[in-house]
Amino acid sequence: MGSKNKIINEIWEHLKSLPFESVLDGFGGSNVIGYFLKCQGKRVITNDFMAFSYITSKAIIENPGHTLDNNDIDFLLKANSNNGFIKETFKDIFYSEFENEFLDMVRENISQLEDEYKHALALSALVRSCLKKRSRGIFTFVGERYDDGRKDMKKSIKDHFIESIDIFNKAVFDNGFVNESLNQKSEDLFVEADLVYFDPPYFTPKSDNDYVRRYHFVEGLVKNWDGIEIQQRSKVKKFKSYDSPFAKKDTAYSAFEHLFEKYKTSIIAISYSSNSYPTKSELIEMLLRYKSNVIVHEINHTYSFGNQNHKIGNKNNRVTEFLFIGT
Ligand SMILES: C[S@@+](CC[C@H](N)C(=O)[O-])C[C@H]1O[C@@H](n2cnc3c(N)ncnc32)[C@H](O)[C@@H]1O
Repeated sequence: MGSKNKIINEIWEHLKSLPFESVLDGFGGSNVIGYFLKCQGKRVITNDFMAFSYITSKAIIENPGHTLDNNDIDFLLKANSNNGFIKETFKDIFYSEFENEFLDMVRENISQLEDEYKHALALSALVRSCLKKRSRGIFTFVGERYDDGRKDMKKSIKDHFIESIDIFNKAVFDNGFVNESLNQKSEDLFVEADLVYFDPPYFTPKSDNDYVRRYHFVEGLVKNWDGIEIQQRSKVKKFKSYDSPFAKKDTAYSAFEHLFEKYKTSIIAISYSSNSYPTKSELIEMLLRYKSNVIVHEINHTYSFGNQNHKIGNKNNRVTEFLFIGT
């Protein structure tokens, strides 16, 4: 949700001439920006408060060269005696009994992997398999209400897993820098970087910006549901969303203000959209308190959430994407 994948080249056009070697992506999400910048030879630090975002970054941004080999894959697919947590807790909710058993088995084997990067790669591959094999790639409803006949839904979860390992393995490389992946609330974090890029959840009165509600299953999977209290009454067995000051109007303003103050010596780049608060002119005003020059680039972008392709082209989804750059 909210991935910048489709507009990454336009964002890069505006960033590439700026003088920076190190970059913090403070709200990494899918990590397409961080990975792209790693490919451009930057020293990258990513952060996101969701563990399933962090683990992907660890697998392909922080990871300098570890991959999963055939022995590892055999090990990951080995039958074991596990606690059957997914089979029991998520019975008849998202996946079949057989698929739940597969997830329990692989999750248990992953927890035995000692190499932190192999561990991150295997978890990222398992998360990707779950997203691919899930109707619309989100976990807000029971069953396959929106089975759109996608090929992904027909492929077995095991085949998705093997394919995903290959995709993640191929994404691993060393760009010569020590890159770093973090899993914190950005409001509690300080990292020194020449440029900081912020793409927080956008507060709009209409749209849903709750990442935990949509992705709780894969978030729980990565954390092995350790320390997570499932709301037993919820049909989809979700857990309480993480608080984010950026997701609410009454706290978004001061949250931005604190970020700008904290990173006033770095170049500050922010992605934000035309239907959000703070508004464009408010953000410019706030940035100008800390930076002497602010440029706003407009990038036309139609948002697509999950796999709701029917919504693409819907007028409510048509917003202008802004890239603010404060130097
Ligand atoms: C708009 S998305 C980022 C999308 C990303 N740029 C991409 O291209 O995929 C916002 C991200 O911010 C994260 N997030 C929300 N509040 C946060 C907070 N207070 N601290 C850290 N991460 C947060 C969410 O988990 C989500 O992944």
